[in-house]
Amino acid sequence: SPGSGLGPEAEADPALLRASSPELARRLRGLALVRGGFVSEGEAAELLREVEPGLGRGRYQNDHWDRAITGYRETERGLRGAAGRALLRRVTPAFPPRRPPRPSAHVLDLLPGGRVGPHVDSVKFCGCTIAGLSLLSPSVLRLRSLQDPQDWLELLLEPGSLYVLRGAARYEFTHEILPDEESFFGGLRVPRGRRVAMIFRNDPAGETPPNPPKDS
Ligand code: OGA
Ligand code: MN
Repeated sequence: SPGSGLGPEAEADPALLRASSPELARRLRGLALVRGGFVSEGEAAELLREVEPGLGRGRYQNDHWDRAITGYRETERGLRGAAGRALLRRVTPAFPPRRPPRPSAHVLDLLPGGRVGPHVDSVKFCGCTIAGLSLLSPSVLRLRSLQDPQDWLELLLEPGSLYVLRGAARYEFTHEILPDEESFFGGLRVPRGRRVAMIFRNDPAGETPPNPPKDS
């Protein structure tokens, strides 16, 4: 049906999106979206089996070079398994044809008490589109306008859901994953458990950066 793809014409699942005003919801239409049930429970389990070994038994850390983040582990992971490769194929339509996602995923493992503080992804290392699959725990992703902080959008990220940020939603708004004590979607409490996200990004236009980002 129209609006059900992942391209610029796509529309978010209305039940999974709240906005500070109808005008803002309209302005970010097609630019911030969320799709519930993007992967099945079976696919989610398979994806976790493929990416969890890459997270190792490393300690969870705090803080990061470009975003305030606590209680997390992460890795950049090539997608060699069948489920990972199928997922990459299915998120590719969210990206402009000439700016496809990098063939690896950023795997971010957040403890129940972890958060990703408000930030804009580095324009040096990330291109125009961000697509994130959420696994294990629900959470709330909040966008807030850099120019008018009273303008916000919240996406309810259920396990198996996919969100896409692009255009104004990617460049003109911060995004954050709310910490457990603030994890509400309107009146709905969204208790946080351990959450694993697989995040897809493309390269910025122009030159590719000479050095990859360094941890901490
Ligand atoms: C990030 C980020 C959001 C998420 O790591 O830059 O915004 O879905 N993560 O975990
Ligand atoms: Mn980010």
